[in-house]
Amino acid sequence: MKLLVINGPNLNMLGVREPEIYGKGTLADLEALIRSYCGEKGVPVDFFQSNHEGDIVDVIQRAYGKYDGIVINPAAYTHTSVAILDALKAVGIRTVEVHISDVSAREPFRQISYVGLYAEKTVKGLGFDGYLRAIDHLLS
Ligand code: DQA
Repeated sequence: MKLLVINGPNLNMLGVREPEIYGKGTLADLEALIRSYCGEKGVPVDFFQSNHEGDIVDVIQRAYGKYDGIVINPAAYTHTSVAILDALKAVGIRTVEVHISDVSAREPFRQISYVGLYAEKTVKGLGFDGYLRAIDHLLS
């Protein structure tokens, strides 16, 4: 089981960005946490972050035949991107959607998730631990 963790726009600003919502940890902290967890489990993992929708579509397409599972926090593209949904459907890789915050308790526009129409599971409101729970699901 080889995993790809994808983080969408503005998640490179973790630690600075609205810490009362997203916490004080940085993207590097998040990736180190996941790398260590996957190391314990003997699971190879790669990371990708982009602020650009098309770049995320490209990396999902390139994942075809190379990865067995995707953990994705599409960030704002969650609520808008049919292109990312279609890319995931095109490659057919098992996917779990993660949100650091509890999007279900936030603004109405955050209640829609296009990626959620494909993902096996959505983990929200658990902070960085949500990524580990997503990995647990893919490994179970
Ligand atoms: C987010 C929630 C999204 O609504 C928001 O646009 C983000 C982060 C989260 O992790 O809680 O950028 O995906």
